[in-house]
Order: sequence, then C-alpha cells, then structure tokens
Amino acid sequence: MGLTGFFLITFLIVHCLINSMIFFNDGGETFNHWAHFMGSNLIIRTMEIGLFAFLLLHIFQGLMLWSQNRSARPVRYAVNRPEKNSKWYSRSMGLLGTLILLFLILHLYHFWVPSRMGGIGSIHELEPASLSTYSGQEVHNLYNEMLMVFRENLWVVIVYVLGVFSLFWHLLHGFQSAFQTFGLNHKRYTPLIKGLGVAYSTIICIAFASMPVAMYMNWVS
Ligand code: HEM
Repeated sequence: MGLTGFFLITFLIVHCLINSMIFFNDGGETFNHWAHFMGSNLIIRTMEIGLFAFLLLHIFQGLMLWSQNRSARPVRYAVNRPEKNSKWYSRSMGLLGTLILLFLILHLYHFWVPSRMGGIGSIHELEPASLSTYSGQEVHNLYNEMLMVFRENLWVVIVYVLGVFSLFWHLLHGFQSAFQTFGLNHKRYTPLIKGLGVAYSTIICIAFASMPVAMYMNWVS
C-alpha cells in the first residue's frame, strides 16, 4: 500500500500543479497547453496505464488489509476505546477511500472520458466548440470543459469539495503511514514527516477545492 500510495501522492502533485494554471486567468491557454502535453505525450500516456493499475491495486490492497484486520480478531473486544490510541481518520481509511472512489467515478466521467474519447491524436473527431487553437496548434479545450461542469452546477461543486475533504483526511493518515510502511520510523524524523504530511494534504486539498469554487464564483475566466 505504501508504494502505490507514494505513486498516487506524486500523481496528485503533478495533477494539482497543472490544474492550478487555470488561476493564470488567461482563458485557460497555459492550462490547455500543459493538459494537451500530458494527454498526447507517449511516455505520459504509458504512465497513465500504470496510474490506473496502481489505483486499482491500491483499492484491492486496502480491501485485503481491511478483511485481514477483521479476521485477525473475529471476537470483538468487550471494552474498546480506540480514540485512546488512534485518530478517527486512521480508523476510517476504508470509508474515506470509498467516498474518494465515488467522487473519482463522477470525476473521470466529467473529464477523462470526454478528453480521451477522440483517442490518441484524433482530436479532430471532437466538436469544434471543445477545440482551441494556440500558436497554430489545435488542442482539446479542457478549460472550457471545466467551466461547463462547474459554472452553473452548485451540486457538482459541493460534491467536489466534499470529495476533496475526504481526500484530505485520507492523505493526512496515508502520507505518514506510507513512510512507516518503508520502515522510516524514527524519533527525530517521524515528527518531520508528520508535519510534511499535514502541509502536503492541506496545500493539495485547498488548491483542488478552490478550482470548482473559483469557476462557480466567476473568479477565473
Ligand atoms: C477538484 C479539482 C479537480 C479538478 C478541477 C480536476 C480536473 C481534471 C481534469 C480536467 C482531468 C482531465 C485531464 C486530461 O484528461 O488530460 C482530470 C483527470 C484526472 N483526475 Fe482530476 N481534477 C480534480 C481533482 C482530482 C482529485 C482530487 C483526484 C484524485 C483523488 C483526481 C484524479 C484524476 C485522475 C485519476 C484523472 C485521469 C488521469 C489521466 O488523465 O491520466 N482529480 N482531472
């Protein structure tokens, strides 16, 4: 889980950085340029297969771990005060992961499906309105797609913010837990890793949540 977790943590940094380019307020030009690069570069497209494989593996490993934990103690404790030795979000990783998965299904339906429908290199099959031309190069206008999804759909914005809120708690435990899985548990370094995990989860999730909100509120155009 640690290794697949690290991969997903890295993916989120790249995804968040590219998406943050919508805040350049240049009509999505920079964002579309980089989204096009990510969607058409052969190395990145190959890594995309790895991303989905790791995502599925991460879910499968989580389910296995959950079932192992349950069968390790078929008879429940008569007295159990879990709050004494762990945080609620550490004990709720399965629930948080399921909420994120539900969010992801909607999310991929919104963006990944339309952006990949044309297939590699065949963006010309897309509707003209979803294409943009920069410096003579035709790219899929994912920025427009984002505006269409968020601008007038308050419920979608709320679902995204809640999805990212679940992700925040999941990452808060997951970041530090991934290091622990690799044996990095040290009196001196563990507090540093925990602090880094809090900073990472907070920055990534505030940045992601601000995207649908900014589009709904017309803060970017
Ligand atoms: C809340 C703000 C978010 C926005 C506005 C957003 C936007 C997008 C867009 C536009 C794409 C399509 C990119 C492309 O096809 O080139 C995409 C793909 C994707 N997003 Fe997000 N995203 C957000 C948050 C997230 C989060 C929190 C996760 C994970 C938990 C996530 C996971 C993915 C995945 C797995 C893909 C497909 C990756 C790929 O294209 O290879 N996204 N997102």
